[in-house]
Amino acid sequence: MPLIDPFNRTIDYLRVSITDRCNFRCVYCMPEEGFPVSPKEELLSVNELIRLVRIGVESGITKVRLTGGEPLVRKDLVEIVRGVAALPEIRDLSLTTNGYILDELAAPLAKAGLTRINISLDTLKPERFKALARRGDLARVLSGIKAAQDAGLHPIKINCVAMKGMNDDEAADFAAWTIQEEIHFRFIEVMPIRWNLDETIGFDPLSAHQGTGLLQLKQSSNGSMLSDLEMRRMFISAEELKQKIEAVHGPMETAEIRTNGPARTYRIPGAKGTVGFISQISSDLCANCNRLRLTADGFLRPCLMSDGEIDLRTTLRNGGSDQDLADLFKHVVEHKPERHYLADGQKVVGRGMSQIGG
Ligand code: 5AD
Ligand code: SF4
Repeated sequence: MPLIDPFNRTIDYLRVSITDRCNFRCVYCMPEEGFPVSPKEELLSVNELIRLVRIGVESGITKVRLTGGEPLVRKDLVEIVRGVAALPEIRDLSLTTNGYILDELAAPLAKAGLTRINISLDTLKPERFKALARRGDLARVLSGIKAAQDAGLHPIKINCVAMKGMNDDEAADFAAWTIQEEIHFRFIEVMPIRWNLDETIGFDPLSAHQGTGLLQLKQSSNGSMLSDLEMRRMFISAEELKQKIEAVHGPMETAEIRTNGPARTYRIPGAKGTVGFISQISSDLCANCNRLRLTADGFLRPCLMSDGEIDLRTTLRNGGSDQDLADLFKHVVEHKPERHYLADGQKVVGRGMSQIGG
């Protein structure tokens, strides 16, 4: 039985954040000093994760993506991949990573049953990388990408958060990469998602975070990550990026690739890879949305932008049956919002991107 929401969308894709921790501090995602992370005991264990994914899959999910935070920082990641890959109904098991320790992990992950991978990369300039990600280093990410290619994790997609004045001058360089290599490069609009600590304080929707440093962080929440307004001002349209690319490489042709999801995809004539644009704010991707999100601490979220989420962890840990949990999956699908209102100024206050799963 497929999961179908009130707007007649079939929900068959589950994005699972397996940790809210990360070894980078991207300026649009986290403050430099980090977020208050969930205590370890609130994160789902390998067995809990696999059980919830199994119930999702038995309810109608066929595609699963592991994300974070940074999923590669979880020591038991390979075990999680192996367990999820073994579920018979899974047709596609992918992972989103910043690529930093992928040079070591690509081969074991492929062996454990991972089918493909998305790697986030916002610049090809080492100095700029330091300014944007503030941890890690570009050379190591590039060797991670190479390791993923060698491990056969195709199609390899590179996701780049496009930011006017920050990295839009590299659009043609990114596109050039797709000529010789089978890389599917996608520009993503920067989303003004920021855990708004000022608004969160006082009605802390996640009692889980009490005593984990929230108050302390509030005082320093202004400085070290982009504000909503800054993120909105960095918006650059797909059309503008495409023009920058075509000014150098000539007109691109439209392309179709397997699993291209919500991206509009093009190819420089003769290129091995493709260039795509994911315009989650400016175009209406919601009409075809097929996803749910499971947070690292076990809440099922109907939409990236909706703080309406249901606690599965408590039911899971209080001895709930598979049926109880399957009912919660159905409940969330039945309450999936029709769309987000980001373009109208909607803010997400309950969680930051690293907790929801980017
Ligand atoms: N806007 C767009 N993408 C974001 N990501 C994190 N924060 C944002 C944001 N504010 C992306 C990362 C990565 C994934 C984990 O989520 O670049 O591709
Ligand atoms: Fe980490 Fe990804 Fe957030 Fe960057 S965007 S800080 S890599 S979770």
